[in-house]
Amino acid sequence: MNVMREVLALQAALTERREKDMEKSREDGWRTRFHVMPPVGWLNDPNGLCQFQEKYYFFFQYSPFSAEGGLKFWGLYTSSNLTNWSYEGIVLYPDSPWDCHGVYSGSAFTEDGELELFYTGNVKLEGDYDHINRGREAYVLFTKSQDGKKFVPKERLLGMEDYPKEYTCHIRDPKVWKEGDRYHMVLGGRKKNDQGAVLLYSSGDKKKWEYVGEITTSDIFGYMWECPDLFRLQTQQVLSVCPQGVPRQDSCFQNLYASGYFFIEPEKELGPDDFREWDMGFDFYAPQTFLDDKGRRILVAWASVPDTEKEYVNPTVERGWQHVLTTPRELRLEQGKVYQYPVSEIDRLRTKEIPIWSREDIRLEKPCFDLEIKEIEDGGWEILIEEECRFSYKDKKAILEFTGSLGAGRKRRKAWIEEIKTLRILADTSLIEIYVNDGEYVFTSRFYPKNRGRQISLKNLKGALRVYQL
Ligand code: FRU
Repeated sequence: MNVMREVLALQAALTERREKDMEKSREDGWRTRFHVMPPVGWLNDPNGLCQFQEKYYFFFQYSPFSAEGGLKFWGLYTSSNLTNWSYEGIVLYPDSPWDCHGVYSGSAFTEDGELELFYTGNVKLEGDYDHINRGREAYVLFTKSQDGKKFVPKERLLGMEDYPKEYTCHIRDPKVWKEGDRYHMVLGGRKKNDQGAVLLYSSGDKKKWEYVGEITTSDIFGYMWECPDLFRLQTQQVLSVCPQGVPRQDSCFQNLYASGYFFIEPEKELGPDDFREWDMGFDFYAPQTFLDDKGRRILVAWASVPDTEKEYVNPTVERGWQHVLTTPRELRLEQGKVYQYPVSEIDRLRTKEIPIWSREDIRLEKPCFDLEIKEIEDGGWEILIEEECRFSYKDKKAILEFTGSLGAGRKRRKAWIEEIKTLRILADTSLIEIYVNDGEYVFTSRFYPKNRGRQISLKNLKGALRVYQL
């Protein structure tokens, strides 16, 4: 009863806070127009991505009280077209003994007219613990709904006693799917020897789960793997994970924590060299995929990386909010790689095509744009946006670079790319996504322009160009 009262008080406080912040937000030119962002406060991982009763459901890790994070809830946005989103409020509260220190990440599964959620309940014990080997509990919790609004009381499916003893207390982020008549679940974990790995469980009824085994690399590749996702893309099994603790290098693993995938082949051991990064920009982590009713495998990620505050920041914190999700990207298997491309719904956001008089000086009245270049000719070139964001290509080296305050501390990211034939730059008010070769490589980054319009300059870049305002 007390918990109910607290929850109601919390809801009232949030509504009031939200209304106040909405007033302020009207002048905030960095609030994204077509990317999911928190109404106020902090957002991180996309959770429970699915399609249910003809709507897309994007739950997300949400700390509504502070733009700098805190206790985690699940917030929810829904959409019928992946471009216009309605905020539906907070769906999961940290209100049980199994998730009182955070409703952590998890996934959705829809079957028999029900929306089911599997997620991690985080419990952090008080006391003199390292919170790695002792002092932390991670539960797999379950709830479901028939209308996407009212959820039944939470149920505990797995607890610490159900995990293999070689693991530390860091086990989380269940992703559930069905194959044949069995259900499967992957969880990300940190082993006691500081090796990141994925735990595999299987079930006949989604309630009783048996441990089947683990997936990891022959040589240690990071101490912890977060947010696993195992799915089939055409004929290929793909395992997506976010390894923490992989040493940073000049042109790969440039971010503090990595995010990428392995192809899983029967009987074949995985090695660190089999890992391919999802994104080459500054802001990409914790992706999750889902299959929609058009048969598309769609990926959405958090456009940020945890614990990077010392390297670069997001000045939206002063405006009461922080972080956004990436554009939903359709995945395709091509030439032995996974390509990511904005879902075609994004094309419908194009409001007008901008006539180009000079490629060196393209002026847009509004901040959101979609720039496409096809049949790019060989040779070095560069693109300058608002004078301080440069994307250049020369001698097979692609560089995304910020100078001045535009990147808020972001400096340089690099990738070796054999050749660049096409480019698409999708820009929201404070997020830029650069798709190279129809999604063979993507660079995702936050940026913070001061002007309302945008100025773009293409230097030496020859190819069929079209620019649209979004
Ligand atoms: C990834 C992550 C998950 C965890 C969640 C908590 O960003 O650390 O592993 O469930 O965020 O918000």
